[in-house]
Amino acid sequence: MKRIILFGAVAFALNACAGSAAQDVGLIFDKKAGIPGSITLPTGQTVNYTAYKKLYFVTNVEDSTYQYMNVYVPEGATTQTPIFLRTYVGGYMASEASQPQAGDASGRALAEGYVVAVPGSRGRDSKVGETFTGRAPAAILDLKAAIRYLRHFDKEMKGDAEKIVTDGTSAGGAMSALMGATGNAPEYEPYLEAMGAAKERDDVFASVCYCPIIDLEHADIAYEWMYGRTDSRQGLSEEQKAVSAELSAQFPAYLASLDLRRPDGTPLTIDNYEDYIKELLIVAAQKAKDAGADLSTDAGFTFSSESMGRFAAPVNGGMPGGMTPRGEKLQSAPTSVNMPMMHARPGEYITDLDMPTYLNYVVSTQPLKGVPAFDSKDVAGNSSSGENEEFGDTAGSSVNFTAYAASKTGVSIDEDLQNRIDLMNPMNFIGKADNAPHWYIRHGARDRDTAFPVPVNFATKLQNEGLDVDFLLAWNRPHSGDYALEELFEWIKTITR
Ligand code: DHB
Repeated sequence: MKRIILFGAVAFALNACAGSAAQDVGLIFDKKAGIPGSITLPTGQTVNYTAYKKLYFVTNVEDSTYQYMNVYVPEGATTQTPIFLRTYVGGYMASEASQPQAGDASGRALAEGYVVAVPGSRGRDSKVGETFTGRAPAAILDLKAAIRYLRHFDKEMKGDAEKIVTDGTSAGGAMSALMGATGNAPEYEPYLEAMGAAKERDDVFASVCYCPIIDLEHADIAYEWMYGRTDSRQGLSEEQKAVSAELSAQFPAYLASLDLRRPDGTPLTIDNYEDYIKELLIVAAQKAKDAGADLSTDAGFTFSSESMGRFAAPVNGGMPGGMTPRGEKLQSAPTSVNMPMMHARPGEYITDLDMPTYLNYVVSTQPLKGVPAFDSKDVAGNSSSGENEEFGDTAGSSVNFTAYAASKTGVSIDEDLQNRIDLMNPMNFIGKADNAPHWYIRHGARDRDTAFPVPVNFATKLQNEGLDVDFLLAWNRPHSGDYALEELFEWIKTITR
């Protein structure tokens, strides 16, 4: 505790004497402190930039290793240039502010002329002395403080804080999702005020989320509903099988509580929901196939065949029932009357996907997580997960964070813990805070770090709010991020132009 106060005092002293652009809350940005640098991309292109480093984004610095940001301003940037904010959070762990990487979206963003901000953030493993500084919701608080800092110095710094595009992968995708969903939500205010964050708005323009590990308190039930029936779950102990079945049985009620609709307005129910996921997978696979990919013969697809005879070419990209490649129902669905008839080349279109085969295929590429997949501490003989640590306390404990696990282990989730759980779930803020208007969400079609319903529900809830959502279960991608950068940056160009 002493150490923490000391850091706060050091930061305050630094702020007090550094002067130049210091503002009401004591934050500092000195535009003369930029350091020239450059980055060379895999293409051979070199981008020159000015780097502003160690920009502490709170005045009450609790953990001086993480609570600052580096900002990179490429040659040619103006005050109108979008800001690409890349978080390197992974595994819900602490992330030190680093420099842009030539091989990922941060380097590419610089090459596109965007200002790049790389904030550090505390995480489940960060400590000052004996105190764990980064348990939930510390990471999102730091990132929101970084956004406020960018707004606070928007006039002094190149880059437009009204055009912030956040990006992250996995737990970082969750952070990007939280930054996008929780804009100006009053629930975070007391924490941000105590930290000495700038008194500014913290909503963002767009969020790029690769395989976001979100909705943690429902991820176990989605996982067992999706994967409980796979072959690999059949070899579990009777106790684990019972846990899997109990978790799976909770999914229909959860889905119903979300009250989701397909893009055409049809309610999503437990009876049509798997077909919805199947259609999203077919859209992604057809897109990859059209681009020349060979689809695995083990994945469970059925393709158009000669025996189909004269075949109504699916102008919609192979989707049944007259849908667009994004899964929206066409206004007037093509029928055999108004649609040109032609011969499909054998194998040209995916006409179906056998989901049990497909799920076993996914699992064959990487084994499933245990049961439960997330809130595993002391349930069915399991030890703690990273998420159990994330919700633990400053003394370093691990805790259960789902109603199911808590009931099994006999612990109670008190009000403070419930509040921290709520602050880590972007699903709670969709339609209830200043959500980013633009979303780019990718989850690999063979990513099993969380089950498909998690990103699917997230994207659908955002769509249902009328937001601009580009969502894809990217074909054959495992748990990974910052891929298909041509496509990503084309999208960013479209929304920022
Ligand atoms: C990450 C992966 C996981 O499977 C998980 O449960 C949490 C985080 C990650 O890669 O960040």
